[in-house]
Amino acid sequence: MIAFALLFCAVITLCVYITGKYNEQYWKKRKVAFYSKNKVAGVLWDHFIEKKAVFKNLCNIYNEYRNEPAIGIGTFFTPQLCVLDITNIQHVLATNFTSFNHRGVEPNENDLLADNILFMHGNRWKLMRQSLTPLFTSSKLKLMYYIIDKSAVDLVEHLKANKELLKGNSFNTLSSFCSAAIGGAVFGVSTGSIFDSPFLDMARKTTTPSWRTNVFFAIINFSNDLFKKLGLSLFKEQEEFFIGAIKKIIRAREQDKIKRHDFADICVALQSAGNIVDKETGLELKPTDELLAAQAFFFFIAGVEPTATALFSTLIELGRNPEYLEKVHKEIDEAFKINDNKMNYDIVVGMKYVDMVMSEAMRMHPPLGVLTRKCVRDTVLPVGNIKVEKGTRIMVPIWAVHHDERFYPEPEKFIPERFASENKSNIVDAAYMPFGKGNRICVGNRYAAVQAKAGLVHLLRNFTLKTIVQEGGPKYLHHPTLIRFCDVDLEFIPRSIPK
Ligand code: HEM
Ligand SMILES: *[C@@H]1O[C@H](CO)[C@@H](O)[C@H](O)[C@H]1NC(C)=O
Ligand SMILES: *[C@@H]1O[C@H](CO)[C@@H](O)[C@H](O)[C@H]1NC(C)=O
Ligand SMILES: *[C@@H]1O[C@H](CO)[C@@H](O)[C@H](O)[C@H]1NC(C)=O
Ligand SMILES: *[C@@H]1O[C@H](CO)[C@@H](O)[C@H](O)[C@H]1NC(C)=O
Repeated sequence: MIAFALLFCAVITLCVYITGKYNEQYWKKRKVAFYSKNKVAGVLWDHFIEKKAVFKNLCNIYNEYRNEPAIGIGTFFTPQLCVLDITNIQHVLATNFTSFNHRGVEPNENDLLADNILFMHGNRWKLMRQSLTPLFTSSKLKLMYYIIDKSAVDLVEHLKANKELLKGNSFNTLSSFCSAAIGGAVFGVSTGSIFDSPFLDMARKTTTPSWRTNVFFAIINFSNDLFKKLGLSLFKEQEEFFIGAIKKIIRAREQDKIKRHDFADICVALQSAGNIVDKETGLELKPTDELLAAQAFFFFIAGVEPTATALFSTLIELGRNPEYLEKVHKEIDEAFKINDNKMNYDIVVGMKYVDMVMSEAMRMHPPLGVLTRKCVRDTVLPVGNIKVEKGTRIMVPIWAVHHDERFYPEPEKFIPERFASENKSNIVDAAYMPFGKGNRICVGNRYAAVQAKAGLVHLLRNFTLKTIVQEGGPKYLHHPTLIRFCDVDLEFIPRSIPK
C-alpha cells in the first residue's frame, strides 16, 4: 500500500516536472521570457493556492518584464502568453483580431444560456454581435433612458425608505440597483419600484458569484476538454426560469402594440425578421426563444457586477476625496437647476466632471483586471517577432497597464484631471481599456456608462458621501476576475438640496 502511494507520488512529481520543463522549453525555443516561479500552473496556482490575485500578480510580472514584448506563463498543457508590449496588445485585440477572435472560454452545447455573445466566437459571434449592436446606439439609449432614470430615482427612494441601508453594506445596495435596472432594460419596467420587481431575486441569484460558478470557471480554465467531458454547465440553475420568463414576455409583446424600447422589443423584431444571415459566409442563425434568452442573459452576467463595481469604486474615491466630491456636487446641482429638477439622457451624458471621475476610477480600478483571448490561427506578434500557435491562450493585463507610470504619472493617485478635455490627448488610447478593446470591446459600454452615471447623479443630488475604511482596508476582494474594493464602505448622508 505504502509502496503504491510512493509510486503514485513519484509519477505525479515526474509529470509535474515534465510539464513544467515542457512549458519552459516551449517558450525558450521561441525566445520568449517565461514565468518560472510556477512552471505548470503559473498565476492560477498563485491565485488559488497562495491567494495572490491574478491581476496583481500579472502586474508584478509586468513591472519586472516591462521591456519584454510578452511572457509565457504555464497553464498545464496549453501554451499561454501574457502580452506586455502595448503594440502587441493592440495587435491581439484589434489589428489582427481575426487571429484572436476567441475569448478562450467554450461552454458546453447543452448549456443553453451560455450560448451568448460573451462566449461565442468566430462567425456566429460576428453575426450575433451585429444583431445586438443596434440595441446600444445613442438613439436607442436615449429612448431607453426613461428606464434607467426610473431605476436611479427608485434607488434614492429605496435608500430614504430603508434608513438602515444608509450606512454599510453599500455594495449590495448598488448591485441590487444594477440588477434591477438591467432587469428593467431587458424585461421592461412596471409602475412599482424596481426594488419590488419579481426579477430582482432572479437577477441577484444570477450575478452573485457562487462557489459553484467559481469552481466551474476554474475547470473551464484548467481544461475545456475536461469541462466538456464532465458535461458541466455554467447556468443550468437559471435555465428554466430565464427561458420561461423570456418566452412569456416575447409572447405578450407580440400582442402588445406599444413600443417600450427594451430588449424584449428587440427580440420580437428579430424573430419577425426571420433567420439572421451572414452575407459573406451564408451562415444562418435562427433567433429561437432559447437563443434570445441566452442573449438577454448576457446583460446579467456581463453587465451587473462590473457596473456595480465601477459605481462603487467611483463613490469610494469621491468619499475620500472631498475636493472632487464638491466639484461633482456642484456640476450635478447646476444641471438639475437648469433642467427644472429633472434629468435626461443628454444632460447625464454631457456632465464633464462626472465623466472625468468615473473614467479615473475605472483607470485605477478597472472592474475586470485581465482580458483573455485564444489564438485561432498560427500568426506572429510584431514586436519581438513572436510566433503564436493556434490554441495559445492570451492574457492582457489591464490593471498593470493602467498602473504603468509611463502612461499615467503618479498612477496610485486619483486625479480626475487626467481626463479633462485639454489633458485627454496625453493619454495613449491603447493604454486605457476598462471596457476592453478592438472588435470584442464591451458591447454594453455606453449603456453601462449611462446607467452608472444616472445612479451617481441621482444619489449625489440627494446625498453626500463618507467613505468608511474598515480594519485592514481598503483592499481588493480575492476574486479571479473582478477588481472590487472590500473592507471599505459608504455612508450616504441626506443633504438639503440647494435651490
Ligand atoms: C462599467 C461596467 C462594465 C465594464 C467595466 C465592462 C467591461 C467589459 C470588458 C473588459 C469586456 C471584455 C472586452 C474585451 O474582451 O475586449 C466586456 C465585454 C462584454 N460586456 Fe461589458 N462591461 C461593463 C458593463 C456591461 C454591460 C452593462 C453590459 C450589457 C448591457 C455588458 C455587456 C458585455 C458583453 C456582451 C461583452 C462581450 C462582448 C463580445 O465578446 O463581443 N457589459 N465588458
Ligand atoms: C432627490 O432629489 C430630487 C432632485 O432635487 C428631488 O426631486 C427628489 O424629491 C429627491 N428624492 C427624494 C426621495 O427625496
Ligand atoms: C482563467 O485563467 C486566466 C488565465 O489563463 C485567468 O486570467 C483568469 O482569471 C482565470 N479565471 C478563473 C475564473 O479562474
Ligand atoms: C494576421 O495574421 C495572419 C496569419 O498569420 C496574417 O496572414 C495576416 O497578414 C495578419 N494581418 C495583419 C493585419 O497583421
Ligand atoms: C490638466 O493637467 C494639469 C496637470 O496635470 C492640471 O494642472 C490642469 O488643471 C489640468 N487641466 C484641467 C482642465 O483640469
